[in-house]
Amino acid sequence: MSQHDSKPDLEESINVSEAHGRLVRDIAASAREKRIVEGGSEPISAWVLAACGVAVLVAGGILGGAGELFSYNTTYRPGYERTPPPGVVDTGPQPKEALAAYMAKGAKIYSAKCNGCHGADAKGDGANFPSLAGSTWITGDTQRLAMIILNGLQGPTSTGKTYGVMPPQGVGLSAADLAGIMTYVRNHFGNSTGDVVTTEMAKAAFEISATRGNAGQMTSATELDADHAKALPGEPLDPKALLDPVSLAPATAPAP
Ligand code: HEC
Repeated sequence: MSQHDSKPDLEESINVSEAHGRLVRDIAASAREKRIVEGGSEPISAWVLAACGVAVLVAGGILGGAGELFSYNTTYRPGYERTPPPGVVDTGPQPKEALAAYMAKGAKIYSAKCNGCHGADAKGDGANFPSLAGSTWITGDTQRLAMIILNGLQGPTSTGKTYGVMPPQGVGLSAADLAGIMTYVRNHFGNSTGDVVTTEMAKAAFEISATRGNAGQMTSATELDADHAKALPGEPLDPKALLDPVSLAPATAPAP
């Protein structure tokens, strides 16, 4: 008890901070007890949810069991085949003759891999890079050419002249890429063997390359003459056979 109780004085009797505290507690309590909710957003009772779940299960079981719900019978007719409307021709890639198809692939590899050194016309520069135009190692044995591309070359070239070293070019080449680049250089820049180095032959080249005695080292005229002066194994391909220009797999003639 303080001396002020007997003489209440407005300033003293109302303890402002205590009154404020009480007010805050009251509001918090009432908010806890009667949570204000927007109409429609009240939480749903657990039993209503459960009842809905059961209803869905039962309905699904009935429809599914009767084969109606998950059946394609109503949307898919067996034996249906898409027929293009009259006058419309399938515009997929048109088949190409083998030689042209392989060369188209090879032209891209040439600009990416060989152009920088041997030049756009493949004539080299006479000093550091030999000409591929007219080279007998280009138009001669396919196995020799493949070994040069896959492993690089050090030491005298086909003309007996040493220009420098050619680093291996096989990294990142697929068998189809190697077949393409070989077919291309053998039939472009004035070279014209007229034959196709197939993907199958190029695959064999990778295998032969992997089993070289000095694997990992550049090849040389000595090694090429001793071990690789021959053709790559594989069935020759008719240069006029029609191929899918992308996959280089045999294609059928376009419908007339
Ligand atoms: C980094 C430069 C470089 C690149 C890239 C390069 N070559 Fe060479 N190539 C040379 C050099 C240098 C020689 C000569 C090597 C020597 O003197 O021993 C050579 C030699 C050759 C030879 C031997 C020619 C002959 O008549 O003896 C062939 C074939 C050949 N390259 C093909 C290719 C092909 C195909 C590509 C692309 C896949 C290619 N080269 C990419 C630098 C290169």
